[in-house]
Amino acid sequence: MTQAWQIENFLDVRDDHLHIDGVDAVELAREHGTPLFVYSESRIRHNIDRLQKSASVIDCPLKICYAAKAMSTLGILKAVKDSGIDIEVNSGGELWKALKVGFTGEQIIFNGTSKEVWEIENAIDAGIYAIQVDSLFEFSLIEETAKRLSKKANVSLRLVPEIETGTHSGLQTALLTSKFGMMPDEAFEAFRKYKDSPHVDLRGIHLHIGSQNPEPHAYADAFQMLFETLERIYKETGIKLGHVNLGGGFPVNYLRDRMHSAEFPREQLEMFSADFEPATAIGEAWKLVKNIAADGGSTEVLDGLTLLLEPGRSIISDAGVCLTTVRNHKERPVSNAAVPAAVAEASRRRDAGATDNWLLTDAGFNILLSMETYKWYYHLISADRAGEAYASSYKLAGPLCDGGDVYFDHEGHNRLPDHRLLPANVEAGEILALLNCGAYSLAQASQYNGRFLPPVVLIKQDGSAGLIRRRETFEDLIGSDV
Ligand SMILES: Cc1ncc(COP(=O)(O)O)c(C=O)c1O
Repeated sequence: MTQAWQIENFLDVRDDHLHIDGVDAVELAREHGTPLFVYSESRIRHNIDRLQKSASVIDCPLKICYAAKAMSTLGILKAVKDSGIDIEVNSGGELWKALKVGFTGEQIIFNGTSKEVWEIENAIDAGIYAIQVDSLFEFSLIEETAKRLSKKANVSLRLVPEIETGTHSGLQTALLTSKFGMMPDEAFEAFRKYKDSPHVDLRGIHLHIGSQNPEPHAYADAFQMLFETLERIYKETGIKLGHVNLGGGFPVNYLRDRMHSAEFPREQLEMFSADFEPATAIGEAWKLVKNIAADGGSTEVLDGLTLLLEPGRSIISDAGVCLTTVRNHKERPVSNAAVPAAVAEASRRRDAGATDNWLLTDAGFNILLSMETYKWYYHLISADRAGEAYASSYKLAGPLCDGGDVYFDHEGHNRLPDHRLLPANVEAGEILALLNCGAYSLAQASQYNGRFLPPVVLIKQDGSAGLIRRRETFEDLIGSDV
């Protein structure tokens, strides 16, 4: 039986086992233990190629900068670098990692709302392509720092465009109520103030409309706003900027297997199953702006422009799978007493008088934080019995001593399915797999409950699988304690 989550030449079922790039996931779990993250370099390349198609629908150079915050283990950064694209960092630490892996200054852009002087110094010393300025105050800090170092800082201003998308509220970054960026009038003030400074090179403007944006047209709205800003800057100050940066945020379809779709409220469903080609959104945005420029007689503003994108999730999310083992199971009578009506209805669809089969895994929100903070959905399958029918329902939870460490919405908003479907009779020892776990997982992980951070295997393009991060040890748990 072909499962809806299968992806040809990437996620397959052979001998009933999940195979990733042809490698048996169960064998990887046995060799390295669980929880274990497994990444596919071929899938990373596939995702980058998909984004690079945007280059063919615009009339200017395209610079793609991988958002390192999504996952920055060195082996992943190296795989990204080997693909030929550039990188976006968010701290002095990520900048250090990017340089360590061999990205050159011109390949690096640096975001962040609270940059410290040492981080600005390091960015200037490395001669990075753009420090993306978050406020007028930060601009003065950057100029002062460059002056002190007798150097020039390349800068781009981050704007807050007031564009709302249908993503999760915690992932909105382009509203005045968000903490990011400058209002357009502040940006104009900055351009007027610093245009003759010998210590800054005003290179571009930037925005990021949020992560997992379900609407492609949001990119056209954003590009139009950037273009109008470029035009005004040109008219008022004579400065012709070299780049615009449309940020990241292209969605990943977390619900390719729609077995639980009926249990999501409509907005959640639209967000988790969002699926559009980045090149379609970028092509539409470019066409719109080109027409506006032609109608307004200002096409020269577009001459010599480079378009930047800084995607993270769309490059790394579906390239990563989290393997986990069922460590415990128990049965509990189904209780509809304390649950809200919508959840109770889902429960009632199950056999009356049934018991809940609970499976306790070794993958908790210490390694998949979004499952708790944003009620994020990761599709769950059995790696051991990947090809079987998924018709038995279970309540799933992680290993943490924390009531929030569950795979359903314990707050009762019904944003996640109450139960997961797996093959019949799952018992302790079975290896399960959470799909699309590559982004914002290990990158946000903690040792909460004294748990070791998990190892990471990368399956290279030649099919060989090797560790790019080892499992932590007791010593790692106390390594920084004084
Ligand atoms: C400024 C900025 N750029 C890029 C990204 C990457 O977004 P995504 O991983 O959704 O592509 C983020 C993440 O939210 C961000 O804050």
